Amino acid sequence: MTEKLELYKCDICGNLVQVILPGVGELVCCGEAMRLLKAQTEEEGKTEKHVPVFIKDNEGNDTVIVGSTPHPMEESHYIMFIETISEDKDNVQLKYLHPGEEAKMVVECKDGKTCALELCNIHGLWEGKSD
Ligand SMILES: [Fe+2]
Repeated sequence: MTEKLELYKCDICGNLVQVILPGVGELVCCGEAMRLLKAQTEEEGKTEKHVPVFIKDNEGNDTVIVGSTPHPMEESHYIMFIETISEDKDNVQLKYLHPGEEAKMVVECKDGKTCALELCNIHGLWEGKSD
């Protein structure tokens, strides 16, 4: 049984899928059950590099940035995407990112306590919420 907007990963081939509409079946890839990704919400240590944060950017737009200390955006270590999900899960916005780009996304619809997810290619899935 899946839930709306859950993320599942295949640890064999790397496929990452998101549930648009849930069903009762098990998600399988490469002959194995896919693994449900659970987002981390707090980082141990001094410098916060992964938890998504909602800010107003210089133009006054609601914007998601990654961490209070900028996360690397290098070929070997970078943020692969940022996604926002409204509290009722009816509004979703996804931005793919690439090495060399800034790890940020302007949010088009901030609705209720909006959730932001980001995926680091090394450190996995992270979640932060708007105020
Ligand atoms: Fe990272």
